[in-house]
Amino acid sequence: MKFLVIGNGGREHAIIWKLAQSPKVEKIYCTLGNAGISNQAEIINIKVDDFDGLVKFATENKIDYTFVGPEVPLALGIVDIFNANGLKIFGPSKRGALLEASKSFAKDFMQKYNIPTAQYHTFKDFNSAKNFLETSWPENKKIVVKADGLAAGKGVIMCQNRQEALLALKEIMQDKSFGTAGNTIIFEEWLEGQETSVLVFVDGKHFSIMPPAQDHKRVGDGDTGLNTGGMGAYAPAPIATQELLNKVKQEIMPNIINGLHKENIDYKGILYIGFMVDNGNPYVLEFNCRFGDPETQVILPLLETDLVDIVENVIAGTLDKIEIKWSKKSAVCVVLASGGYPEEYEKNIKIYGLDTIKENKAIVFHAGTKKDETGNILTSGGRVLVLTSMADDIKSAIDKVYSVIPKVKFDKMHYRKDIAQRALKWITK
Ligand code: AMP
Ligand code: GLY
Repeated sequence: MKFLVIGNGGREHAIIWKLAQSPKVEKIYCTLGNAGISNQAEIINIKVDDFDGLVKFATENKIDYTFVGPEVPLALGIVDIFNANGLKIFGPSKRGALLEASKSFAKDFMQKYNIPTAQYHTFKDFNSAKNFLETSWPENKKIVVKADGLAAGKGVIMCQNRQEALLALKEIMQDKSFGTAGNTIIFEEWLEGQETSVLVFVDGKHFSIMPPAQDHKRVGDGDTGLNTGGMGAYAPAPIATQELLNKVKQEIMPNIINGLHKENIDYKGILYIGFMVDNGNPYVLEFNCRFGDPETQVILPLLETDLVDIVENVIAGTLDKIEIKWSKKSAVCVVLASGGYPEEYEKNIKIYGLDTIKENKAIVFHAGTKKDETGNILTSGGRVLVLTSMADDIKSAIDKVYSVIPKVKFDKMHYRKDIAQRALKWITK
């Protein structure tokens, strides 16, 4: 079988690393890839939103399955276009991807199909939104302000009071800091608690839940500093108790599947559900229509079933016909980032020590890397590498990954020292 993987980060490296283990896979292509991916896949230079180019490539090269990593091509309708050309592709249709691409669509969907979420108010014009804050929102009450559309994870502003919310409203709707993503605005009740991500394989009718994960979004130890794309993750996350997972399995997911059906949405792929857990009760914060990054780098190493079997059955709508097996181990991953990230950072810095790491100690997933003409590996992004270790328990997986990190060096490299400590606090609570 031939696969085409769309995307070029740590998540896509993990997808390719897993696909490459399948005896059914003969060749993998990736657009646009990175230095690590280029060891396992042939890199092609077609932009992820050049659908004509991608369809032509997939047709001419007889690609059996295309796997989409990031949300942007899904939101632009890559799946509908591939399907219309008779090509098999893993991911939701454009309307399905709206669950991530439009927060107001997702909130209305949740309300309509009885999926627990924070209370909200949506506005399409600045003056009514401002009027709502001034007349209906208490001056000192916390509030979360969100741009409706895709904003690379930056469109959510946490506000301590009405005054901050008015500034956020101006930034989103008048200054257009997130472009057209801010044409509609959502005000949400601020929920307290701990977050966890539950990713689910969905074939339209059936679903299968993956081990719950937890991301670390802030750049600094102790959850301080700016938000990032994610500085590390671990799975399974003990905050997602069996009781919570049962609720997802028995109530939340059946309601979602029913909603998808009623709305005539063809959803085949991954549904990523971000939860806030307050007093054991899960509230959906967001949906993503794809694998998470870096959650994938801890989830896929735990997957024992052939990923190709899952892809085939999701697309065929026969997910109920296979048993998906997961390792009982724990996985922890730490992101090694460029100095300055998530703000400005330098690129093209030489990375040392990667060849000294054995895969049984840590799997090295590349994110922002490239090779120069002589084969040196250089940095080319903010999140550069992701190291994943597995062990029988979280504590041992943490110790293992942090014992390997000193082997890797590049100028101004930084990383969080406390990934997965929250799990230990939870276990001993
Ligand atoms: P979202 O992209 O909607 O998941 O929001 C990004 C992050 O903002 C989440 O991971 C939470 O940390 C935070 N957040 C979003 N909505 C809320 C809310 N209603 N209450 C508290 N925190 C929130
Ligand atoms: N790590 C969060 C995300 O992939 O959206």
